[in-house]
Amino acid sequence: MRGIVVKLGLVLVALLILLSSGTVVTATPPTQAGEYSSDDFAYESKCRQCHAIIYADWEGTMHFNAYLDPFYLEEVDAASEDTDGALDEFCSRCHTPIGVVSGEIPPIDGSEMSDIAKLGVQCDFCHVVSESNGTGNAPFTVTPGDTKWGPLDDARGNYHESEYLELFTQSEYCGMCHQVVNPVNGLVIDDTYSTWKDSQYAEDDVVCQDCHMTEGITDFEANPGRAASGAPKRDHISSHDIVGANTLIPPMFGAESVAEMAIERLQKATTMELSAPETASIGDEVTIDVSITNSGAGHNIPTGVSEIREMWLELTVTDANGDIIYNAGSLDANGNIIDAKMLYNNVLADSEGEETKSFWLAESVLEDNRIAPKETATEQHSFVMPENAAYPLTVQSTLKYRSAPQDMIESLLGDEIEVPVVDMNEISAIIYDPSTPADERTQPESDSTSTPGFGAFAAAMVLGITMYILKRK
Ligand code: HEC
Ligand code: HEC
Ligand code: HEC
Ligand code: HEC
Ligand code: HEC
Repeated sequence: MRGIVVKLGLVLVALLILLSSGTVVTATPPTQAGEYSSDDFAYESKCRQCHAIIYADWEGTMHFNAYLDPFYLEEVDAASEDTDGALDEFCSRCHTPIGVVSGEIPPIDGSEMSDIAKLGVQCDFCHVVSESNGTGNAPFTVTPGDTKWGPLDDARGNYHESEYLELFTQSEYCGMCHQVVNPVNGLVIDDTYSTWKDSQYAEDDVVCQDCHMTEGITDFEANPGRAASGAPKRDHISSHDIVGANTLIPPMFGAESVAEMAIERLQKATTMELSAPETASIGDEVTIDVSITNSGAGHNIPTGVSEIREMWLELTVTDANGDIIYNAGSLDANGNIIDAKMLYNNVLADSEGEETKSFWLAESVLEDNRIAPKETATEQHSFVMPENAAYPLTVQSTLKYRSAPQDMIESLLGDEIEVPVVDMNEISAIIYDPSTPADERTQPESDSTSTPGFGAFAAAMVLGITMYILKRK
């Protein structure tokens, strides 16, 4: 009896909350394709007049590139062909939201698109989102016009109206698009939002914006400044260089700085530990354990289109003469990874159970080898000490990342393009001859958060993409 009373009470409270706050019940359904015209949206050049710093942050990022990204354009053509156009509107809703709500796409070839629709995820799309109907598959409601929605409840400006919307400060805002479910078969193909939601970060209220829209790349530094020219000084202005891990595409649009920030972020994502015996005799079987902890990302690494991303460990043991005693995870002459113990990604299968990277055709997950937030993956390497090994031996272990396999990008965009490989982290150890006195056995400083170097982008790549763009025109 008491239980029933409590339950009735709870129902009443819930009803009261429902009646008193408009946010629980959604008043407006997601904006439909063709509901607006592209003329209803303002060009980013307009916003730039007053929001110059925010504009400069956003320019060249993957949001700016979301439609023009040549990798996307090739893949969406393939998806359209494979599904007879059934997914055209679906894919485009995140990659060119203005293109969809203005009814300019489909056709998927872009022939009907206005210039503004080609600008991807932009100012006057993100800031006219007036409501969301949940997360996943872009359930946004947009209200283009004089009012700009945002995180400030005291915005002072008279050029346009400003409206505070809490959603802008929450992961659910990003979760509209960073959670993708195949509408045909229900397979989750991007779980960035839900893996965040299941993590300690969600519990601690550390949201996407805290890591991706602050200065200092995951160091949560405040960024004092003005949100617009002439606006009051504020303790914190969100930075709009919303950067992830992509180092392939931004340089194609001249945005090397975006790629550099992505490298910095990748290098703050993990910590590593290595355990190797301090000494080993000829003929011994030597076992080396390397563990990788996802210490810096609020979701799996890799995340997003993680069936395409590649993260792996290269481990090399070299003797005092520089001869390689053991190697796993280096690249062959064609840029393919050889003998890696593990490829940390997501493996999808099509209707026949065959592995596929064409995620629109995927029906099941074969393997999920990504590293969840705060979790550790350990891999073990072993080799036998060869007779002629010259002491001491150096064990060098480097964690590598690239946005896509080399052969995939070559076949889609041309073989001039080299997919940059980023060294995310590195750690090393020395193995001595057992006769070396203990006090002479020194080990390299274990600074697993050190930032390994990264070479300049090859000129060949810039040339390659110019050729690609010319070819497409
Ligand atoms: C992917 C969506 C997205 C895009 C694109 C985007 N913004 Fe924002 N913007 C946000 C979010 C989310 C916040 C709030 C972040 C927070 O609270 O930490 C924000 C905050 C703001 C603010 C409030 C002040 C501040 O910095 O906190 C202004 C002004 C603003 N954006 C203007 C712009 C302009 C101008 C552009 C285009 C150059 C733009 N935004 C592009 C999502 C976006
Ligand atoms: C004539 C100058 C001017 C132009 C042009 C302009 N804004 Fe603003 N905007 C402002 C000022 C001033 C503020 C208030 C800043 C403050 O109070 O710190 C503001 C605030 C904002 C906010 C914060 C709203 C909130 O409540 O969080 C957003 C979002 C925004 N602008 C987006 C845009 C977008 C998108 C465009 C282009 C379509 C644009 N602005 C064009 C001057 C301008
Ligand atoms: C605790 C900090 C943190 C939080 C919270 C966080 N991220 Fe990240 N994010 C990172 C780091 C570090 C990387 C680089 C490593 C990687 O690729 O996963 C990253 C990478 C990414 C990438 C690129 C992934 C790839 O490999 O292509 C996307 C997309 C992304 N984040 C989106 C989000 C979204 C959306 C949220 C909120 C649901 C979020 N992030 C929350 C730190 C964070
Ligand atoms: C309208 C849909 C949409 C919204 C809303 C959105 N994004 Fe994105 N985001 C995208 C798309 C599409 C891409 C990828 C474009 C591409 O790779 O071609 C992207 C790319 C990114 C990347 C770069 C990934 C990489 O590999 O470097 C990060 C980081 C990111 N988004 C974070 C966020 C965060 C944080 C928010 C919330 C403040 C957010 N996004 C809101 C659609 C969206
Ligand atoms: C609900 C939103 C959403 C939908 C729908 C969507 N995407 Fe994306 N797409 C994203 C986001 C967010 C990213 C960035 C994730 C990351 O960086 O790993 C992305 C990244 C990509 C990339 C990687 C681009 C690069 O440069 O690395 C390709 C290719 C792509 N999408 C193709 C497609 C195709 C084809 C479809 C339709 C079958 C589709 N997307 C549907 C949101 C979406």
